[in-house]
Amino acid sequence: MQKFTNQNLLYITNWVENKLKTSTQISFLVPNPDRENNKSLKIWLDLAELHFCKMLMPKVVDDKFIQITYQKLNQENSFHSAKVEAREEKYGTESIFFNINKNEEPTFLHAYKKALEAVKVQERKYVLNLGINKGDEFELIEQLISKEHFDKIEFSGIDHSQSALTYAKERFPKDNVKFYREDINALKNLALPKADLIISIGTLQSPSINYKPFLMSLLQEHLTDDGAFILGFPNSRWIDGELIYGAKAPNYPYSEMSLLFNDVIFAKKYLQQKKFRVTLTGREYIFLTATKIGV
Ligand SMILES: C[S@@+](CC[C@H](N)C(=O)[O-])C[C@H]1O[C@@H](n2cnc3c(N)ncnc32)[C@H](O)[C@@H]1O
Repeated sequence: MQKFTNQNLLYITNWVENKLKTSTQISFLVPNPDRENNKSLKIWLDLAELHFCKMLMPKVVDDKFIQITYQKLNQENSFHSAKVEAREEKYGTESIFFNINKNEEPTFLHAYKKALEAVKVQERKYVLNLGINKGDEFELIEQLISKEHFDKIEFSGIDHSQSALTYAKERFPKDNVKFYREDINALKNLALPKADLIISIGTLQSPSINYKPFLMSLLQEHLTDDGAFILGFPNSRWIDGELIYGAKAPNYPYSEMSLLFNDVIFAKKYLQQKKFRVTLTGREYIFLTATKIGV
């Protein structure tokens, strides 16, 4: 078996790339990460992700070496490439997406939790979520704040997937949590009151939404004067159950972030002009958090 001792990372990454051309699983020996001056376990995990692999549990070979095994992710097993009959059910209960739980991904959880804390979610009165799907974004709020605070806030979640909404309704059998099946573009039809927190994660860049004018209309027509935004922009892809860093871009075989940066910076500049304090955080999901200055 290939044994790496003091080879540099460029040499190793080239070796890995080459091996993966003909194998779906590869193993190699590396110096024990727990010993001083050796490459850490994180380096082998990062390398696995960059080569679209899952790293299996390393095996201790002796006190100086461990065995690393990479298994190629099945790129077909991704909702990004899945074909669905009805556009509205692309993210429904039968989709690959439905089994993903973002709240159990540390980089997502950390950034979303910080954003909720920054907007003081427990003090908000009415939270509107666009693209709520199965309700994960409400679930984290419920876990984060006291029941007393949660029950005082009104929540509305909008989505066009009936199956996802049916599931979400069963998860939140509460009078203060409501779900509406509606095209987000036709939000006005619901005649909802203005919200003092609007959350939308992984949704506004959807091809069915005209992102820039829609964002402006959200601020003008659906947010109270002291309202806040939490917008999440995916900088990642879900492949074979793993969250892989890097935005998926049309026409590029690798991750490319121009569209992501354009959309994020548009929102940041627009909201700053409208007197919001705007922060950008996160990694696999970029979080834009905007709170009104002076309130
Ligand atoms: C990528 S998913 C994100 C869901 C959830 N926010 C999350 O991050 O897990 C996008 C969601 O928005 C919904 N959606 C997309 N375009 C929509 C539209 N025009 N009207 C209503 N819902 C829409 C989809 O059905 C889906 O549930």
